[in-house]
Amino acid sequence: MAPTRLPLLLLLAATVAAAADLSVYHNVHPPSASPLESIIALARDDDARLLFLSSKAASTGTASAPVASGQTPPSYVVRAGLGSPAQPMLLALDTSADATWAHCSPCGTCPASSLFVPANSSSYAPLPCSSSMCPILQGQPCPDRDPFDSAAPLPSCAFSKPFADASFQAALASDWLHLGKDSIPNYAFGCVGSVSGPTSDLPKQGLLGLGRGPMALLSQVGNMYNGVFSYCLPSYKSYYFSGSLRLGAAGQPRSARYTPMLKNPHRSSLYYVNVTGLSVGRSPVKVPAGSFAFDPSTGAGTVVDSGTVITRWTAPVYAALREEFRRHVAAPSGYTSLGAFDTCFNTDEVAAGGAPAVTIHMDGGVDLALPMENTLIHSSATPLACLAMAEAPQNVNSVVNVVANLQQQNLRVVFDVANSRVGFARESCN
Ligand SMILES: *[C@@H]1O[C@H](CO)[C@@H](O)[C@H](O)[C@H]1NC(C)=O
Ligand SMILES: *[C@@H]1O[C@H](CO)[C@@H](O)[C@H](O)[C@H]1NC(C)=O
Repeated sequence: MAPTRLPLLLLLAATVAAAADLSVYHNVHPPSASPLESIIALARDDDARLLFLSSKAASTGTASAPVASGQTPPSYVVRAGLGSPAQPMLLALDTSADATWAHCSPCGTCPASSLFVPANSSSYAPLPCSSSMCPILQGQPCPDRDPFDSAAPLPSCAFSKPFADASFQAALASDWLHLGKDSIPNYAFGCVGSVSGPTSDLPKQGLLGLGRGPMALLSQVGNMYNGVFSYCLPSYKSYYFSGSLRLGAAGQPRSARYTPMLKNPHRSSLYYVNVTGLSVGRSPVKVPAGSFAFDPSTGAGTVVDSGTVITRWTAPVYAALREEFRRHVAAPSGYTSLGAFDTCFNTDEVAAGGAPAVTIHMDGGVDLALPMENTLIHSSATPLACLAMAEAPQNVNSVVNVVANLQQQNLRVVFDVANSRVGFARESCN
């Protein structure tokens, strides 16, 4: 037996991968004391984000940019570090974006919060146009050489990117990225040098791209995190609590149920899943045939996103869900609208505890019964509760359903890209 031991140990040592657990915080302080009013305020940017998620890449081929306009700031941030020595940064967590970026000093037009100072980092390096990531960000190939001086080194890679109502200009650079106890060398990110337009909707310090493209975290770290990460988002009711972002296979929940991850070549950053139906209580929601079908050519299907606040269903799906939900609640005085919500009822008349839970059914036998706080949202000021989902905005190419972060609170969502599956497990993450 003894001779087999050594190779086994070596094998174990060689395959040990890193793991990190980072705290996830709410991005903004509560704009209002009531969770309902806070969410309505936060969800104001959802329409722009839906537009971003449902827009298809304009062109095909390698130059099709996985970065698109209309993006809005995700609602959660993680603590990270950039550079040597590490400069602490709060980065917005975004599963639908690939590129990581940070506001860099000097920048007179960036948000006033503290900037990353490349000059203070001994390992900071701007990347040249010949870097493989430059065409992805620029949306066009780089010249082979300087047309006027073939011996000259290629210029460094500069790009601009629209974000919310603003756009920024950045340099592609690399430096150490520090996540929990892990440090990743030569991490490619955008160093933002100027912003045009309002900065109020930009992440304050930067963004961590957790999408599926070549610039995203899992792609840049190789096997380090086994191609898997998960998060547990803290409840909107507890602004001052944190959840977690767990990188790597270690510590992922054994109880998670998995559904296949689908890939849309036109929106290759996004995590699509195959929703097969919805239930209200025990009643299946009767949607028109084909309502949930995945269609890569139109972008239709269902995306799991960390940055949208309220789950949106396409018009026929939402109409059927609302009808079934109202039938169960049977509020004597009917329903009112509040912000994005159109199914609010008086909890003096109908005990909110009697409201039915919504279950999202997915391929692979996943029946995700949403916790009650993810189905129904209460006003603390008035006896009012609302169905916490909505119809996709009419003005966008609304073929995409989005399972948003309000519906992911206190669940662990596992993005197992290596095995092409998305998992869900109940967890209290506050
Ligand atoms: C950068 O270095 C300067 C000069 O040493 C120092 O005053 C400043 O605090 C440093 N900034 C950061 C973010 O490390
Ligand atoms: C989605 O799930 C249904 C039911 O299992 C299946 O028939 C269909 O082929 C799946 N679609 C995709 C794109 O995997």
